Amino acid sequence: MTTTAPAPASAPADVAALRVTGKDVRADGVLTLDLAAPAGGRLRDWTPGAHIDLVLPNGLTRQYSLCGDRWDPTTYRVGVLREAAGRGGSAFVHDELAVGDLVGVGGPRNNFPLVPADSYLFVAGGIGITPLVPMVRQAELLGADWRLLYGGRRRSSMAFLDELAPYGDRVEVRPEDEFGLLDLAGFLGTPRPGVRLYSCGPAPLIAAMETVAAGWPPYALRTERFLAEERGAPVRTTPFEVELARTGRTVTVSPGVSVLDAVGDAGVEVLSSCRQGICGTCESGVLAGEPDHRDSLLDDAERAAGDTMYICVSRSKSDRLVLDL
Ligand code: FES
Repeated sequence: MTTTAPAPASAPADVAALRVTGKDVRADGVLTLDLAAPAGGRLRDWTPGAHIDLVLPNGLTRQYSLCGDRWDPTTYRVGVLREAAGRGGSAFVHDELAVGDLVGVGGPRNNFPLVPADSYLFVAGGIGITPLVPMVRQAELLGADWRLLYGGRRRSSMAFLDELAPYGDRVEVRPEDEFGLLDLAGFLGTPRPGVRLYSCGPAPLIAAMETVAAGWPPYALRTERFLAEERGAPVRTTPFEVELARTGRTVTVSPGVSVLDAVGDAGVEVLSSCRQGICGTCESGVLAGEPDHRDSLLDDAERAAGDTMYICVSRSKSDRLVLDL
């Protein structure tokens, strides 16, 4: 059945209504959605590693990596895994959303960009292959040296094997029921300069990559997570003040209230999506004060610079923060 449902009226201002133009099963529990402007025409440009927000007609917002052809300006493609333990976003996409429906789309945004390098080693786990598919295409286009290690539970659950097959030996497909756990140390080899490591997948894979890549040069490894990193308690247990430099207002943020909500209650709307510190939507400039970074996006150097923060989860170490809002 095909239904047409508008994006929710409360959708943020940068959300466009796009039409589902394709829905195809790509592996057990994995499908791709194609999205296009209802009247056709160009969509906003994107680069490998980018994601979009799907603002679903049932009110849920979910982030999905773009996995189509970045040189096709009229279509976005995302891969969606049915998550049995999810909160209903992927089940809605699998069971309800149909070709012809309208769906809200925010972004694209890229927190996982492919930086220039001579050589790349890509490691994907399960649906973590989605941002890496455009990356290997880009690396191939640029003539870079690259290899991909792709793990999954079973071969039948691993999407895009058909698209990766033409790359031959550059791609190592390693279903766990045939090969066991991924041999990350063997794949990465000895640390060497000029090689960038990119990994996307479930938390245990990312943790294993961080361990195995510990001897590599700083910032050689870039990762993208499905879930926020575990964080301990906030540094402060007392309220702090946030001055909004452009608005000229100061708000008090109490324990248990996010900076995002405190700022919103003061009438200053900041776009947000995941509210877990993983999508990047709520990034806000820091003009003064010391943030207590609690996101899963910034690396150590970016945290130390202290000039930006994700206000859905991050808080303050100092009595006062001044934000560029
Ligand atoms: S809303 Fe996603 S990082 Fe803050």
